[in-house]
This record gives sequence, structure tokens and C-alpha cells, in this order.
Amino acid sequence: MQKVTTSAHAKVILIGEHAVVYGQPAIALPLKTIQTHVTLQPSSHGQIIHSQLFDGELQQINDRLKGTETLIHTLLTRLATPQQPFTLTITSDIPVERGMGSSAATALAITKAFYAAFQQPISDADLLTTAAISEQVIHGNPSGLDAATDNAQVPLWFVKNQPLRPIALNLQGYLIIADTGIQGQTKEAVSAVRQLRMQHPQTTQAALAKLGTLTKQAATVLKQGNLKQLGTIMNQAQLILKQLTVSSPQLDQLVTVAQRAGAYGSKLTGGGRGGCMLALTDTLTHANDIAHQLRQNGAQKTWIVPLNLNN
Ligand code: MEV
Repeated sequence: MQKVTTSAHAKVILIGEHAVVYGQPAIALPLKTIQTHVTLQPSSHGQIIHSQLFDGELQQINDRLKGTETLIHTLLTRLATPQQPFTLTITSDIPVERGMGSSAATALAITKAFYAAFQQPISDADLLTTAAISEQVIHGNPSGLDAATDNAQVPLWFVKNQPLRPIALNLQGYLIIADTGIQGQTKEAVSAVRQLRMQHPQTTQAALAKLGTLTKQAATVLKQGNLKQLGTIMNQAQLILKQLTVSSPQLDQLVTVAQRAGAYGSKLTGGGRGGCMLALTDTLTHANDIAHQLRQNGAQKTWIVPLNLNN
């Protein structure tokens, strides 16, 4: 085993969250500058984890990192022996449980680190299925979108169980990402939509299909570079996500603040019920102004992302 450092980056879902679990398309953007780093090194004894969420022996890991524990056991069984001593240090700029792909980025960086430390190659496809081991423990039945985008260099058109497709993004504009400061509840939100689908099959199916249609329309306007129309589509998606019960009072409040501040569109991103929201505008000055208003009205942190991500 040799000492290695690996990384993976954050993502945001522009549109299509939740519907993607039921076979509809989603569009997600990699955020290459917001990263998680993992350093894995040999140790004379013990299996030690240093991270923001846990510091200590792997076997004493807390519930929030159960997915990481399962993943590491799988990797050690594949690559070495289950008792192999190591020290694993995780440092991350991606906020935890905020819909920005933090858990998937951690799983990817850990998987890459173990393969690199034991000097074994891993294909992109195997990397994603391995990272899914931890995502399944954390999220129940993930679509795979988070890990795919955390591992992508360009915006993605994603349909569950289909090959990943890069998507053209021909926009001159800015996305503002704002963190409510409240943990997202992806697992609960996904299971609430599942319940709704059982209790009210027709209306829920119609809502999920409408999200799919909006995602297809978004792909067209992304190609055409029509920022205003993209904003309108985002607003419509937010109304449906609210109907599906995956928004929250804090998300609704920030969405309203962004709309009042003149954003072209705004919506929650990711699992919802906490976590982050997005707002869209054309100039950096306006993006800074919207970000400021969001922070004044409860956002814990904001990021501004230029939309020319294909470069
Ligand atoms: C979570 O980031 C996105 C969801 O669509 C769940 C998933 O795709 O697994 C809510």
C-alpha cells in the first residue's frame, strides 16, 4: 500500500430531481472548484478515519458514516484483507447533506484512493458502481445521478440505467447556489414521493411526467441560450417539487427572496426538505446582489457559478 491523495467535486441538479428516480431525465452540472480530498496512507496498526463528521477507529464509526464503513469493507475485501491497517483523512469544501453531492464525492474519492493505494486500475463504470455501495446505505435507492455528476467534467443529461450523455450548455449567465443551513433529507424526501405515488398514483405520475417534460424543454433552451425561458422552467419545476412535498418553508422563503430580487428563475436543488436552492440571472453584478439578499434573508452560504461550464 502506498500513500495517495485523490479528489472528487460537487454537483448541482439543474432540473429533474426526484422524477429521475422514476426514469425521467435530469440535467446536472459539475462544480469542479468545490472539492473533497482524501488522503490514504499506510499505518502500523488500526484503521483510522479523520473527518469533519467522525474522528477515530473505523469500527466505531457513527451512523452518518455507515455508508463509508460498508464501502471501505468492500474495498479492503477486494484489494487487500479486511484487517489492513490504514489512516484515511477526508477534507471537504462541499457542505454535508445539502444536495451538492457531498456523500457521492466522498465515496468516489475514497474508492479512487483505495485503488490507487494498491496500484490497481478502475474503469469509470466500476468507479460509479462501487461508489453506489455507500450511496445505497445512505439514500436507499439512489438513481446514480449524484455520483455520475461528481465524476463528470461537463454538464450531464442523465437517465437512470442509461449511458451518460454530455449536454450542450450555451448560456452566458450565472447560477447562485444558496444553502438554507438546514440538512437536506434526501432519503425521507425520496420515500415521501414513493408514498405519494402509492396513495395518489394519477396526480403523482402526472407531476413526475411534467418534471420530465420541463427537463426536456430545459435542454432545448440550454442549447439556444435562452436564459429567461430557462428561469420560467425552473419556477415551474419548483411548483411541482412543492406539490410533491419535497420543498420546505426555508427553501420556499429563499425562492421568494430570489424572485423578488429579480432572478429569472429559482428552485430547490437535490433531495430537498432542506439543503440548497438555485437562482438564475444574467450578470455577475446581479448575481452578487441576489446572493447578498439571500444571505440577508437566512441563507447560510452562497456560491456563484458561471454557466459556461462546457469549457
Ligand atoms: C438527490 O440528489 C437527487 C434525487 O433525485 C435522488 C436520486 O436521484 O437518487 C432526489
